[in-house]
Amino acid sequence: MTGFDNFPFWLRFAHFINIIFITLLIRSGIEILSALPKLYWNDHAKPGTEWIKFTKKKMPEDRLWISLEEEESFSSWIALPGRKNLGLGRHWHFFSIIFWIANGAAYYLLLFTSDEWQHLVPTTLSTVPDAFHDAILYASFHFPPPGHPYNAIQQLTYFVVVFILGPFMIATGAAMSPAIDARFPKYPRIFRGRQVARSLHFLGMIAFVLFIIIHLTMVISERFSENMGNIVLGHTTSFGVAAGLFTLIVLFVIIVHIWVTGISLRKPRRIQNSLDLAIVPAKWLLFRKATSKQQFTKSKVSSFFRVNGYPPDTNEYKNLLENKFNTYKLKIFGLVQRQLELSLSDLHAMSKQEQITEHYCIQGWTAIGGWAGVPMQYIISLCTPLPDARYVVFRSFQYTNGDEFYEVLDLEIVKHQQTILAYELNGEPLDIGHGAPLRLRAETQLGYKMVKWIRSIEFVYDYKNIGMGQGGHREDHMYYSPRAGI
Ligand code: HEM
Repeated sequence: MTGFDNFPFWLRFAHFINIIFITLLIRSGIEILSALPKLYWNDHAKPGTEWIKFTKKKMPEDRLWISLEEEESFSSWIALPGRKNLGLGRHWHFFSIIFWIANGAAYYLLLFTSDEWQHLVPTTLSTVPDAFHDAILYASFHFPPPGHPYNAIQQLTYFVVVFILGPFMIATGAAMSPAIDARFPKYPRIFRGRQVARSLHFLGMIAFVLFIIIHLTMVISERFSENMGNIVLGHTTSFGVAAGLFTLIVLFVIIVHIWVTGISLRKPRRIQNSLDLAIVPAKWLLFRKATSKQQFTKSKVSSFFRVNGYPPDTNEYKNLLENKFNTYKLKIFGLVQRQLELSLSDLHAMSKQEQITEHYCIQGWTAIGGWAGVPMQYIISLCTPLPDARYVVFRSFQYTNGDEFYEVLDLEIVKHQQTILAYELNGEPLDIGHGAPLRLRAETQLGYKMVKWIRSIEFVYDYKNIGMGQGGHREDHMYYSPRAGI
């Protein structure tokens, strides 16, 4: 860092806001990573093909294992909030994204409506060779001569971080959203798929962490008092005041992290609801019209498709299985003009829809499968929901910790053309792990919304008195969001 005067207030303020949200993004990102601590360069995410992993667990070969078993518990010292809290980690990530992007947008605007941009944007071609020369000097523990206000390598680094790395995190992050990818299937292909985007997003985080470490080292080792004055007060005349304020800022950031971690672990529901005040409207703006246009070719189908959730082990389900599901009856009721009871052969006799789509598990893995079944649009035309019906509750034969598994979907999502009741996967009848005899496919949603082993479908006005009232089993118990577009 070199000396220069008069950092404007907006720049110092944006820098401070950025410190808070980037550190929250890094820690909550690490929490998300802990749910599937393996990264892939292919969308099939086949176990064993990861290029890096942060777990020593080996999945058993002699029994059915589910992807929840792959999850690691990361310490709250690095992950927000740590200890296997994917739901809250995602809440913190999405909350921080909103403010990080808003702060970044305001910073860009002010940068280009003042002359501050000239400090960051190289305006001569010689910047690149000069930066190379500066790098050699730093590598041999010498400081290059100060620039105006930065030397070439500083200018180039800040330029890359502000104008390339930041937008890169937004672009790769967006490519991880099922709602975006289902609606614009060509978009994730820019990165060669969701898993590559995920790996690049992770490498972007590493780049940010390295930048922060080097940036801090340089600030401290080179002209510390001038740097302190500039970034805290905007001038270099009172080092004592600047150093005092800087210490307070660092303490404030540390206290924010300790507080948000502690309260997220102690009062998860309260934090979820508070963060949702910002997340829900943002998701509504972005994803309210999400519809799926996915259609992969057969050659893209994954040879391995993880399962999540243990199959039901009740006598009721075992009996159905023994009878090869011949006695299965899907019940459709609630706010409808006609209640229905449909056997598997009834469902097979209805119009069949096939779709090859990508499954997005909330834990991070993906797999491409060819599904076939009855469009929910057709079921809706048979039962005709009453005008009061706003949500659809899909109940499963499966119980987790004594509670029936269920998920609620917005009627609008259920009406989508690619929302089907699937009874086949890749041309074969559904196997038990993937939800036999019937499962939901709603392609703009994360996997946990697509209930397996479906027992019944109910059309309702509200879901507040179903389960714990959060909109699904995972929402009730794991603080996942009922809006699973991302
Ligand atoms: C410097 C800023 C950021 C850092 C350090 C960061 C870091 C991370 C990390 C480490 C993960 C975990 C990857 C995984 O295992 O799946 C993650 C997930 C994610 N990030 Fe970021 N991120 C940043 C900004 C953003 C932005 C701006 C967006 C918005 C578009 C975004 C969207 C996402 C999404 C959608 C996920 C996956 C969430 C899920 O499906 O559970 N991130 N981030």
